[in-house]
Amino acid sequence: MPSASILHDAHVLLTGASSGIGAALARALADRGARLTLVARREARLRALADEMPGEHHVLPADLADLDAADRVASRAVEAGGPIDVLINNAGVQIVRPTAQTTAAEGEWLLRVDTLAPFRLMHAALGPMLDRGRGSIVNIASLAAIVPTAGMFHYSAAKAALAGGSEALASELRGTGVHVLTVYPGPVETEMAAAAVQQYARDPTGAMPVGTAAGLARRVVAAIERRRPRLYYPRAYGLANAFPGTTRFLVDRLTPALVGGG
Ligand SMILES: NC(=O)c1ccc[n+]([C@@H]2O[C@H](COP(=O)([O-])OP(=O)(O)OC[C@H]3O[C@@H](n4cnc5c(N)ncnc54)[C@H](OP(=O)(O)O)[C@@H]3O)[C@@H](O)[C@H]2O)c1
Repeated sequence: MPSASILHDAHVLLTGASSGIGAALARALADRGARLTLVARREARLRALADEMPGEHHVLPADLADLDAADRVASRAVEAGGPIDVLINNAGVQIVRPTAQTTAAEGEWLLRVDTLAPFRLMHAALGPMLDRGRGSIVNIASLAAIVPTAGMFHYSAAKAALAGGSEALASELRGTGVHVLTVYPGPVETEMAAAAVQQYARDPTGAMPVGTAAGLARRVVAAIERRRPRLYYPRAYGLANAFPGTTRFLVDRLTPALVGGG
């Protein structure tokens, strides 16, 4: 029953809600009775989503590559919806390309969106959560944090930093009432994944398990409700964490060549 969920009437600040995993998360959370503040650059998509979902939700268009904008998102979310009960750092960008063909500026842009903006939002949300003795911080990292992948220099580094910080925070906050969930998705059918596949000579996901945004969203909602520390999706990728050396060996050998060389 939705009313039994700890998410019922919870204020959730969700980034990257305009597509893919974020849009699926928004729908799953609204079904649980959560009140959402939806963040991304494409405002029309956020408004359409907010209108379609049950309940009252706020839309905050912002470009999180601008870290001052990330700070403003945190304060405007509280003005609009009250204290943040759940922060979900989901917004992300990916560059899949030979590293020598990527500029430092492009890499730093990715690091701002995928790592530094989530850190800003964590800093803003954490103090009030500790004061209230409750709350959840959810970081959507990637399997790339455990298994760095050819053609994803900045993305692998950004997600490893996000996951490492998230796991350290989870340990630090044990017993405070504030819960931290680190999510390690493998391939999930979204616009981002479709664009990535195009950058390799053949589909690198080949025989690998591939998930759906709705399936991942259901698992994330359950992990928040059960206050789990980490989540691998599809489930089989828990093996990548158990056997990282073997997984890296296999991924090194099996990742196809990049279309642009490298
Ligand atoms: N799909 C996968 O296979 C996979 C695997 C592992 C991890 N992940 C992670 O899952 C998360 C969601 O990815 P997805 O697959 O759902 O990709 P997606 O469909 O491309 O969604 C990315 C979301 O991030 C938002 N975003 C991107 N840049 C932004 C910016 N500068 N400011 C504000 N919002 C921004 C986008 O909204 P706007 O464009 O409207 O700004 C969009 O809502 C990402 O963190 C990704 O790294 C995905």
